[in-house]
Amino acid sequence: MNDEQKHHLKDIDRTVVWHPFTQMRDYADEDPIIISHGDGVYLVDIDGNHYLDGFSSMWCNVHGHRVAEIDCAIRAQLDRVAHSTLLGLSNIPAVQLAEKLVQIAPRGLSRVFYSDSGATAVEVAVKMAFQYWQQRAHPRRKKDTFLHLTKSYHGDTMGAVSVGGIAHFHSVYRPLLFSSISAPVPHPYRCEHCNGSCDKTCFGTLEKIIAEHADRLAAFIVEPLVQGAGGMLMHPPGYLKYAAELCDKYDVLLIADEVATGFGRTGKMFACEHENVTPDILCLGKGLTGGYLPVAATLATDEVYNAFLGDYAEMKTFFHGHTYTGNPLGCVAALATIEKFETDRTLEKLQYKIAYLAKQLQRFRDFTHVGDVRQTGFIVAIELVLDRKNKTPYPFEDRTGHRVCDVARENGLLIRPLVNTVVLMPPFAITKREIDHMLDIICDAIIAVTEGDERWHEEFL
Ligand SMILES: Cc1ncc(COP(=O)(O)O)c(C=O)c1O
Repeated sequence: MNDEQKHHLKDIDRTVVWHPFTQMRDYADEDPIIISHGDGVYLVDIDGNHYLDGFSSMWCNVHGHRVAEIDCAIRAQLDRVAHSTLLGLSNIPAVQLAEKLVQIAPRGLSRVFYSDSGATAVEVAVKMAFQYWQQRAHPRRKKDTFLHLTKSYHGDTMGAVSVGGIAHFHSVYRPLLFSSISAPVPHPYRCEHCNGSCDKTCFGTLEKIIAEHADRLAAFIVEPLVQGAGGMLMHPPGYLKYAAELCDKYDVLLIADEVATGFGRTGKMFACEHENVTPDILCLGKGLTGGYLPVAATLATDEVYNAFLGDYAEMKTFFHGHTYTGNPLGCVAALATIEKFETDRTLEKLQYKIAYLAKQLQRFRDFTHVGDVRQTGFIVAIELVLDRKNKTPYPFEDRTGHRVCDVARENGLLIRPLVNTVVLMPPFAITKREIDHMLDIICDAIIAVTEGDERWHEEFL
């Protein structure tokens, strides 16, 4: 590609493409990065710059880019058929993937409903739970609301936003949403509710809220262990198990949204496994296809599924579907991704990388403007603060997190902040040396943005 072609692409990108979650007035002033190809844990732009994919292309890449086994599976499927719908018929990869998902998911989840993004997997779960209560055999109850945690994120479709709790994303749409109930996120570093003893106070609060609303609560929807877009807020151990027990006790469905945590991210295949929990409904997306193609899935128990069975005229059918439901190319990518977990012993090897990362992260703990360093499996969050002692956040408009990520990008690392929290979620294929490289870049970027040139100068002397 010559320079003129590159300039043309960049111009069109700035003037025609509307990017998600992006203030386009700022974007129009930037020199956009346009990715040309990928290679392992790296992405390469049209100018030939290599970037370590430190956010796994929006938390979805698993084994790296251009993985031979996944590429081959997709190419082979292309020689058969690219797409055929699941409305009224089936296709080979969709059937095989459903069988595989039931095998690897927490025991008891026996039915697989496909869709095409994390948000639609949640949308399906919410509609399923709502309809379940109207149709289950005994006793039928009109349960018409949902419980979610503050700062939760479940995607951007209206149902998913209705059970979301991030004010700066969601409040503008409030008049369009159905009402839901929220419980405080148990997040020890910044618990709005209990000053850090979440195991006692926040657990108790959850029970109070569930007990009070049990008659109306169709489901409690939760991101197990880690609330992603809300800032990588990590729940204390035992919270998920406790929530599952409460849902059982008060006859409320539990929806586990593992769109971000599923497929190894927390160190186990699913976050629910850490606490031995089987939700009634499980939402999967992102890593399901290795980060290759938009296939998502909502898994349900027999108990939920059976409520939808009946005579045709009873209208118990689950009236939901998408054109690309069960897309064969995406399903073979998912099958190859899961198979690679097994053949490469990915999760076993990941444990060493998780431990190594934990050790190397120690260096950030003494930084003047690092308030908290959190890690669950291969999810890392470094929260930047103006004042460590008082945990004073940087003003939103300072874009401190963004500026750190901009510096990292200039030095060859792609990451995206969550306000002032720097997030690291590299593909599992990353090597020890690449982890070091990633951390060196972040380290320099944080110092450069939060401490300016002073510290460099001191170290140099
Ligand atoms: C927990 C969770 N649920 C749902 C979604 C939405 O997924 P998608 O962007 O594929 O719609 C996300 C996306 O980040 C997520 O983190």
